[in-house]
Amino acid sequence: MPTAMTEVNLDVFRKYAGLSLPRHVSYPMPTGWQDLDGQEAAAMHGDSRRAESPHDLSLYLHIPFCEALCKFCACNRVIQPKARTGAADTTESYLAALQTDIGRVAESVGTDRPLRQIHWGGGSPTYLTEEQIEKIHRSIEGAFALSPETEIAMELDPRGTTPSLLGTLYRLGFRRMSMGVQDFDRAVQEHIHRIQPFEMVRDVVTACRDAGFCSINFDLIYGMPYQTPDTIRDTVERTITLSPDRVAYYHYAQIPEKIATQRGMDHTKMPDSETKLEMFLIGAELLEAAGYEFIGLDHFARPDEGLALAARSGTLQRNFQGMTTGAGLDLIGAGVSSISNLVDVGFIQNVKETQRYVELIEAGDSPAERGKRLTFDDQVRQAVISQLYCGTSLQPRLIEQRFDIDFGDYFARELGIMQELEADGLVSVDSDGTISVTWPLGRVLLRTVAAVFDAYLDPEAYRVGDRRSFSTNA
Ligand SMILES: C[S@@+](CC[C@H](N)C(=O)[O-])C[C@H]1O[C@@H](n2cnc3c(N)ncnc32)[C@H](O)[C@@H]1O
Ligand code: SF4
Repeated sequence: MPTAMTEVNLDVFRKYAGLSLPRHVSYPMPTGWQDLDGQEAAAMHGDSRRAESPHDLSLYLHIPFCEALCKFCACNRVIQPKARTGAADTTESYLAALQTDIGRVAESVGTDRPLRQIHWGGGSPTYLTEEQIEKIHRSIEGAFALSPETEIAMELDPRGTTPSLLGTLYRLGFRRMSMGVQDFDRAVQEHIHRIQPFEMVRDVVTACRDAGFCSINFDLIYGMPYQTPDTIRDTVERTITLSPDRVAYYHYAQIPEKIATQRGMDHTKMPDSETKLEMFLIGAELLEAAGYEFIGLDHFARPDEGLALAARSGTLQRNFQGMTTGAGLDLIGAGVSSISNLVDVGFIQNVKETQRYVELIEAGDSPAERGKRLTFDDQVRQAVISQLYCGTSLQPRLIEQRFDIDFGDYFARELGIMQELEADGLVSVDSDGTISVTWPLGRVLLRTVAAVFDAYLDPEAYRVGDRRSFSTNA
């Protein structure tokens, strides 16, 4: 049993665990974006360039295709075996639409604004051929202002990653790789339909290092059927032997009412909340003992890695990729379902169906489906929630200075609840009003603390969950 487990008051943990609450990859969460239709939303791209001093840019690109389905997967993906009739044509028409999208979105945000980061996510970008990747990369180069310092990252599926592909990515300027590992246990892999032996991951890591990539991230998931504290210990220990620079240690997000393919998981074999707590703490203790720093809700990074440096310098942010560097950049989304997150302006999301996305672009229309323009209250609460996730403490003084409000007046109801959470040991409140999230209980239930400040949730959501279907908090 992990040492921290003995410090957790299990009665309190049980009171708050297992509730349906957001992970706050945005504030407001997309469930609160009803304000704008696609056309109104897309116009916000232009607003971002008219800011007094426009922010530099970060680009997110969505490649939805995957060769086979992993049953747990909650991402926007299209399962399309390459051998399937018509697969090559569907991919080509998607990529043609994506190129048009990149060009148009660059025009509307301004092609001269420095592009600091590019992230290729999915789905599986490694589904594409090297030629297809290079073609899209050249479109980005042609449309945006890249520099040698632009950080370029890709999500790799180790099952489709070859040394040749890695060599091409390095040549094009990619330096950061993130790979889906999930779990090394064979029985778990069989159940989730993702067979990926340890040796395969080890070989891809070696090939990444040989190619020269400076940062490697592993995605792991705990809390799935057939996982036990022992299998998790083994997976994390094996992970540590491969020395990734970052580890995203995700709690399994289970929303079968929204994600039909998750109904194929044997949920009778799911670990209960207390076992998941034990799994989380096993992972956290092993990673910390191996020198990783715990960041935000579910990330770990080596102290000299960008994420840990960003946490120390205050440039960490929470967004749709989890915890990332680059706070203060306008995030521009291209591709199906992608999201633009414009600082102090709002959010824009593209349609979620690939065929519809292609049709809209081919017809000369915007692929945006909905959006949210931030109100003053949204901005204040976004800053509060960001402080909680990125620094795990909330400093009212900073919020007062930035927004010219009296924190005590503005958040009277929320501060009342903080007293309740303090009595339960989730937070501690200092004499200057700083609210710190405790370790381990508060960190494990960080979503509960953040939910108190979310004006779009039911007011009692922090202790009873929200009626909308978010995944469970622990
Ligand atoms: C787009 S995938 C990563 C790249 C590639 N498709 C792969 O799987 O190797 C993004 C990550 O989201 C995480 N993920 C997907 N579904 C999840 C779920 N239901 N709960 C928690 N994490 C999930 C997985 O860890 C996965 O690696
Ligand atoms: S986890 Fe990755 S490879 Fe598996 S279905 Fe999801 S996006 Fe595709």
